[in-house]
Amino acid sequence: MPHTIVVLDFGSQYTQVIARRIREANVYSKVLPFNTAISEINKINPAGIILSGGPASVHTKGAPKPKKEIFNLGIPILGICYGLQLMASMLGGEVKKSQLREYGRGKLTILKKGLLLKNLPKQLTVWNSHGDCLVSLPKGFQALAKTENSSYASIENSDKKFYGIQFHPEVEHSEKGVEIIRNFLFTVCKCKADWGMDDFTISAVNEIKQKVGGKKVILGLSGGVDSSVAAALIHRAIGNQLTCIFVDNGLLRLNEREQVKELFKQHIPGKLKVVLAGNLFLSKLKGVTDPEKKRKIIGKTFIEVFDAEVRKLGKVDYLAQGTLYPDVIESVPIEGNPASLIKSHHNVGGLPKKMKLALLEPLRELFKDEVRNLGRSLGLSEYVLMRHPFPGPGLGVRVIGALTSKNLRVLREADSIFIDELNSSGWYHKLWQAFCVFLPVKSVGVMGDERTYENVISLRAVTSSDAMTADWAQLPDKLLRKVSNRIINEVKGANRVVYDISSKPPSTIEWE
Ligand code: XMP
Repeated sequence: MPHTIVVLDFGSQYTQVIARRIREANVYSKVLPFNTAISEINKINPAGIILSGGPASVHTKGAPKPKKEIFNLGIPILGICYGLQLMASMLGGEVKKSQLREYGRGKLTILKKGLLLKNLPKQLTVWNSHGDCLVSLPKGFQALAKTENSSYASIENSDKKFYGIQFHPEVEHSEKGVEIIRNFLFTVCKCKADWGMDDFTISAVNEIKQKVGGKKVILGLSGGVDSSVAAALIHRAIGNQLTCIFVDNGLLRLNEREQVKELFKQHIPGKLKVVLAGNLFLSKLKGVTDPEKKRKIIGKTFIEVFDAEVRKLGKVDYLAQGTLYPDVIESVPIEGNPASLIKSHHNVGGLPKKMKLALLEPLRELFKDEVRNLGRSLGLSEYVLMRHPFPGPGLGVRVIGALTSKNLRVLREADSIFIDELNSSGWYHKLWQAFCVFLPVKSVGVMGDERTYENVISLRAVTSSDAMTADWAQLPDKLLRKVSNRIINEVKGANRVVYDISSKPPSTIEWE
């Protein structure tokens, strides 16, 4: 059993970021509800406990609290933000509403290093997000650091190995935050860095086996990173009890269905059902131009098709999904607004509710880059793991205006040329996303001696770290020229190519 750190969750949006930082240090961590029974904690025999932050105030009636016996276990404890306030108030300190809420960047001055702040510079920029403040220390505690508005920004009880930090070391804006967490893990708790993705695979496989037993599981495979990794992991656990369903909605990229089938054969040798539903989707979308209406129709039709397919399988108990740590994106919060981490998950839309199946979501604690690493440890190819994101409604939101087979064909062919050229010039992996958009605008051209009157294709290529903000990519002229020439010469139905030079915000990455 590796050394385990238990993270008790008091509801902070950063709890999973703490767990991620611990995993990055190659230490095993387990996130548990704040009121987990002592007997459960003892079973794990943790090397240390972290009390996460949370939105409550210790003064609120019914504020979440851990069992008070955790302070008698003889195990090191680190309280972060609300966790610090909670530990201090439960042990006899006093917490008050601050005069000034500390929110965003702050200056931390280290007074005494102790074990927690070992090897750190005297001053650090840290990320705060709190309204309450510790004003008197519990017995046995000392201040390690202060900020402008708080005399006890970090505290320790060196005898008991209890530590507290008022700021958030887990977010990237906290300078040396990772060092503080590592000091807790390795210096205070004496953990060994002996845990890795292969260990995650082993324990996830065991958990899936235990949960599913002999029952049947279905999974909607899109061919993207998340659903492919989830499929590979679940298949490793339960083999042919898993059936994957791939719906060709007629809004896929060139040869995509064949590629997904091939991928499946190579890497996830299990049961795959491919449903050809392009005509159904296109007939429901006929004449629809409003983007939100298109999305709704595509989502609803997907559920109908998927549901009908599942019914054919007889009794199924679990719906597996490649949901990642659901709302949090793998990147830094934007200054002054940690809520900017939150993004609605486009892909979940209504499926589980309608189907009344239990959910199996083995990736839900992981971040995108961790899922890629997991995929590598499961042997999936870089092609799948590093592919750009592709929206659920597919080309449905990349053909602007009404969807017809002709418009879709023009878009598919143009898009494939663009991606081809990005790959051969080495640009594909420097971009967050790149694709073509079909514009329902016709313009005049000449080809040979003939006048043409055809549609316009826009190229979109952006750099981004999380899709919350994005910049248009400065692709070399030579590359743009080649892509434009090839599209106009090779794709019947397009006679003009433009390059989209809009950033997000105020524009979005997709056009619809
Ligand atoms: P926007 O266009 O809002 O896109 O800047 C941000 C990211 O989300 C993807 N996206 C979607 N993904 N269903 C999805 O599964 C959707 O309806 C959808 N709309 C946008 C987009 O490709 C980009 O990565």
